[in-house]
Amino acid sequence: ALLVEQFGGETPENATKWGSVQPDPETWDFSAADSMLELAQEYDLRMKGHTLVWHSQLPSWVSESMSAEELSLAMETHFAEILPHFGSSVEDWDVVNEALEWNGAMRESIFYSKFGSAYVQDAFALAAKYAPHARLFYNDYSIEGINSKSDATAKLLEEIQKAGVPVHGVGLQMHLTHGNAPSREDISANIQRFGDLGLLVHISEMDVQIRHLQGPETDRFLAQAMTYYDVTAACVENSACEQLTFWGYTDRYSWIDSWFGEDDPLLYDEDLLPKAARDAVHQAL
Ligand code: G3I
Repeated sequence: ALLVEQFGGETPENATKWGSVQPDPETWDFSAADSMLELAQEYDLRMKGHTLVWHSQLPSWVSESMSAEELSLAMETHFAEILPHFGSSVEDWDVVNEALEWNGAMRESIFYSKFGSAYVQDAFALAAKYAPHARLFYNDYSIEGINSKSDATAKLLEEIQKAGVPVHGVGLQMHLTHGNAPSREDISANIQRFGDLGLLVHISEMDVQIRHLQGPETDRFLAQAMTYYDVTAACVENSACEQLTFWGYTDRYSWIDSWFGEDDPLLYDEDLLPKAARDAVHQAL
């Protein structure tokens, strides 16, 4: 009830990843993704597909032992099944996720090792072939402010545009740690730089870690709220920034707890009550 009342869209956290939908070459499982789609359709939520090409959460049969030809065929088969499955019900797709290293170099991955850097552009072309209606996004972390990785992202996306291949937007994941996040000005300038390239910008996976902060919970939640405010304000002040998505909404369920340690990174507490962060987002909006 809270999700459909407070939010206008949803991104499956895991349900549309390659490993989830095609565990074996001949086995397709859309059950979890379809239940999210039903919710989206019933409550008029916009759903974003996440993510077609990523080095992580691949099915085990997609491995380095494949030849480039085999991997290419597997990719095309995957796109040809998943994109028409959702059709025009899912208008936005993360096509390539996390292709770059922190210093802007291409990330070593199965895709890079088999195809070189051309795979990024080829993935966008393939997505356009099987989802001609969709808006296609590149998504990554640590590209929130202006730095070598976001510079490399802008260059990569410009090259795709110059080749005449459709790319519509960029997702800044925004997995932040309070006290170690880029400033509002930095994020805003970065959003504007992508906007100047004609790209839409989504804040695509926001959460804010605070477990390292000392002091009473009220103070820690207020500090966290300031970070949420700054990011939301940076989005609001740029017309290119269209969407703000959080990687979960209640502290009851967050990937942060199992990856880094017990934390409270989201907008609602474990009892689904709004935190200062939720009010800060509302104020900035
Ligand atoms: O489904 C299995 C379950 O059967 C098994 O019992 C359990 C035991 O470990 O694991 C379950 O799978 C876990 C899966 O989440 C579903 O809960 C994986 O171990 C776990 O690694 C996986 O983590 C996901 C992570 O991506 C994988 O890299 C997180 O939930 C998900 O939030 C996270 O999301 C990513 C975005 O896609 C891309 N950007 C970064 C973001 C955070 O890492």
